Amino acid sequence: MAFELKEFLGRFRKNSFKNLLKSEQSVLGVDIGSSSIKIVQLRKEKERAILETYGEVATGPYGGMEIGQPVKLNAEKTAEAIRDVLKEAGAKATVARVAIPLNSSFVKVIQLPVSAEGDLENVITIEARRHVPVPISEVSLDWWVMPKTEKEKEENNKTMEVILVAIHNDVINTYKDIIAKSGLVAAAYEMEPFGMIRAAIGRGSSTIAVIDFGASSTKMAILDYGVMRESHFINKGSHDLTRALSQSMGIDLARAEEIKREVGLSDLPEHKEIMEVMQPILSYIFHEANASLKNFQSKYKRSVSKIVFTGGGGLLKGIVPFGVKEFTIEVELADPFSKTEHPVFLSTVLKEIGLSFSVASGLALGEL
Ligand SMILES: Nc1ncnc2c1ncn2[C@@H]1O[C@H](COP(=O)(O)OP(=O)(O)OP(=O)(O)O)[C@@H](O)[C@H]1O
Ligand SMILES: [Mg+2]
Repeated sequence: MAFELKEFLGRFRKNSFKNLLKSEQSVLGVDIGSSSIKIVQLRKEKERAILETYGEVATGPYGGMEIGQPVKLNAEKTAEAIRDVLKEAGAKATVARVAIPLNSSFVKVIQLPVSAEGDLENVITIEARRHVPVPISEVSLDWWVMPKTEKEKEENNKTMEVILVAIHNDVINTYKDIIAKSGLVAAAYEMEPFGMIRAAIGRGSSTIAVIDFGASSTKMAILDYGVMRESHFINKGSHDLTRALSQSMGIDLARAEEIKREVGLSDLPEHKEIMEVMQPILSYIFHEANASLKNFQSKYKRSVSKIVFTGGGGLLKGIVPFGVKEFTIEVELADPFSKTEHPVFLSTVLKEIGLSFSVASGLALGEL
């Protein structure tokens, strides 16, 4: 599901860009996370996606903070970090698809009469005024008509559902500036969840939820047949666990991070104290996620059958059984490099670190 911002990219993409991109040219996925920037470079060879290189750089030190600490960098510093990680990874591609954070975007599924299909651009621009909380002149709009099954068509041929995405022009301009300063060409900008979904799941038929457990926030998407219906932004992430451990135990962040990774979610008596520190944050995140699931279930009258974790926070030991207990449904970890081909010796490493590359990997896949 390619989901570009038509207004500023559609034209570019349709007219000249695709011709520039030779069939075997390499592409980059760029994910500017709060604690680190992730890049993945893929090449298309026949119908396969070959992983050429990948890299990650901690953003903290570029903002005078520690490795692992989330920071908000300006465009210059962000571009410097991107150039560094490209160099470090030996990534030579210049064409990139870039993630726009979920909390910088407005997403909603809206209902429109089927008769609007012929004049969708105008209808959406008018409809968007009712839904988007800022003036339409200040945002770029994109949309996607949700596919219907034959049964759904029989049951209802009057209305259709459309995913509406609005991103503030200031946000887009900031990203354009970063990409230009990084020496890259953006083929498309795409909202974070679309990247993570593409990498994390197959074209399954069931209704599932993908949870990206990041450093400073947790992003959730609920999908049907691989198409996103709902998204939810939770303003706490895995670094909040580290910070809480550091504060309550009076240790530095690096040590707290080590403890978090070593112990994970444990029910051993000797880890009781550590769990007590992390519990309120975990409860908050899981409670928010659960509320979102319940909401979905009552709105669409069907239940979510599985949760898939992505993001570096998903590497927390014991998160799968913990999730099963909290959600009482099947829980698994994503395998974001499962759709790419890579040398066998990398398989183990990619399984260990892959989770944090979900967004970047999905973006690059989308560009092939
Ligand atoms: N082995 C591990 N065990 C537990 N947590 C881990 C492990 N590896 C990484 N993490 C955590 O994952 C988080 C980073 O994940 P990720 O790279 O997905 O975040 P981000 O994209 O920078 O943040 P955000 O999405 O919130 O902007 C860190 O808080 C880190 O502590
Ligand atoms: Mg992230």
